[in-house]
Amino acid sequence: RPIEIGIDAPDEQSGQKVKIGIYFATWWALNVVFNIYNKKVLNAFPYPWLTSTLSLACGSLMMLVSWVTRVADAPKTDLDFWKTLFPVAVAHTIGHVAATVSMSKVAVSFTHIIKSGEPAFSVLVSSLFLGETFPLPVYLSLLPIIGGCALAAVTELNFNMIGFMGAMISNLAFVFRNIFSKKGMKGKSVSGMNYYACLSMMSLLILTPFAIAVEGPQMWAAGWQNAVSQIGPNFVWWVVAQSVFYHLYNQVSYMSLDQISPLTFSVGNTMKRISVIVASIIIFQNPVKPVNALGAAIAILGTFIYSQAKQ
Ligand code: 3PG
Repeated sequence: RPIEIGIDAPDEQSGQKVKIGIYFATWWALNVVFNIYNKKVLNAFPYPWLTSTLSLACGSLMMLVSWVTRVADAPKTDLDFWKTLFPVAVAHTIGHVAATVSMSKVAVSFTHIIKSGEPAFSVLVSSLFLGETFPLPVYLSLLPIIGGCALAAVTELNFNMIGFMGAMISNLAFVFRNIFSKKGMKGKSVSGMNYYACLSMMSLLILTPFAIAVEGPQMWAAGWQNAVSQIGPNFVWWVVAQSVFYHLYNQVSYMSLDQISPLTFSVGNTMKRISVIVASIIIFQNPVKPVNALGAAIAILGTFIYSQAKQ
């Protein structure tokens, strides 16, 4: 891991940086497309538990086909691997469904502004559960993150409590997911791509019974008919697009997590949200008050300060 230990030749180091830069740009672009289709689908078909399940199912299927056709090598796993993966999958499932429920209730931009507060959750979890302590500047950097998110939340024109709580729960769950994932990937021969594939499959098994219990086939059938009559037969392609892009952006993000620290990952993730916020405001023409935008800007700036303070 050249970037982490810094003992390789300069050429190799800059090659590694270019590779990570390409991963980041791809991750962000795929994520923007996912967010747009996901919201288009949720606007016409407000069943986030099913759409979350379909995203995982699509990714699992894509990876199974890649392994069977040998487009990708199947990972060699043992029982121990799946046991260690279980808590990661629980956190991934909760974080995923909570974010999707949030986006079904509020503007995509609002969910992502709240999700830009993830570093604050990371410090909270590391301090409370892992007993870590941080220098004072790290704690101070949380003030603009929390303050900015709070300002954006209270000035949000279409505030909704479920939307807000969904994004907050997703933050908490994803901090656990990232900490456990990095531990689970350390020293293992499973690549980032295959690790995420196994994670999708396990999350799919966890989520399916809950999705059936919370929403269920009857609601889905009626909702689907309604969506198709509103949008037309193209609706199915929107669902396919949100599912495929969900898998692809996550796969690329895990390919980067394999190469970088969880801190760099979470900062990259927050920067990703800038492109999502801007793109979704333009495409969905969400009304934004200047004070609302200011809150988002302060929160994101706080993340920059946090990353500097933590280093
Ligand atoms: C999801 O559905 O999992 C969320 O949209 C993901 O949010 P992320 O931007 O943190 O990956």
